[in-house]
Amino acid sequence: MYGSKPQAQPPKPVTVSRLRKMKQEGERIACLTAYDYSFAALLENAGVDVMLIGDSLGMVMQGRETTLPVTVDEIVYHTRCVAAARKRALVMADMPFLSYIDEREALLNAGRLMQEGGAHMVKLEGTGDQAHIIESLSRAGIPVCAHLGLRPQYVHKLGGYLVQGREEAAAQAMVDDAKALEAAGADLMLLECVPAGLGERITRELEIPVIGIGAGAGCDGQMLVLQDMLGITPGKTPKFTRNFMTEGRGSIRDAVSAYVEEVKAGTFPATEHCFL
Ligand code: KIV
Repeated sequence: MYGSKPQAQPPKPVTVSRLRKMKQEGERIACLTAYDYSFAALLENAGVDVMLIGDSLGMVMQGRETTLPVTVDEIVYHTRCVAAARKRALVMADMPFLSYIDEREALLNAGRLMQEGGAHMVKLEGTGDQAHIIESLSRAGIPVCAHLGLRPQYVHKLGGYLVQGREEAAAQAMVDDAKALEAAGADLMLLECVPAGLGERITRELEIPVIGIGAGAGCDGQMLVLQDMLGITPGKTPKFTRNFMTEGRGSIRDAVSAYVEEVKAGTFPATEHCFL
């Protein structure tokens, strides 16, 4: 008698297994950074699959020169703001500089990002040397994204924000690291600033999805810093970004939707955004 109206189905959440399925089925993964509730809500509505609370917030939110001063407390705070808007996207939080120097520190800090911040996954920068950290997080039930290629927390050691893996020996070392981190339990790989051919090779050789930022169109998905793709980053932006607010789009919502559509269609990144 009191027939209820059909309810709209809640969107299926993006999970670690969903990301793997997307890779297997060839559906590209659209990722962006987010640092607050309002933008996270907008990203959700535009269909972004993964929202990263990156330690890039040190630069884009705080005006610092590098990501090094960012603290766990700050990432927890911004993750909580983003998670409040979450409906479907996977929320990934960065582990800041020196917050994962040993297994105990890594567990305590990743635990805070999940328990207090509401993250579904943590991301850490590291080579094969970090395999034991990833193994211990994974054993504790914490999904991990391993960040290879240009690792901004190592900027002083690397001598600047430079493309990584150009020489064959360095490229082979990165492939070996990627495999070691996958074997250790990484659920996702982020590759920053590497030649497009190397991005494609690592994507092909791993079973876990590979997200590129300046790593070419051959990756399983793409990431950009939100402020870069909206064209509001002060100063020079990297070659691999594109300002989606130009080209006649009148709103932030349209620009973010266009980014998602182009990543899904494989038209972003184009050759001019790639390192060869
Ligand atoms: O901190 C960040 O936003 C990142 C991206 C550059 C991938 O790690």
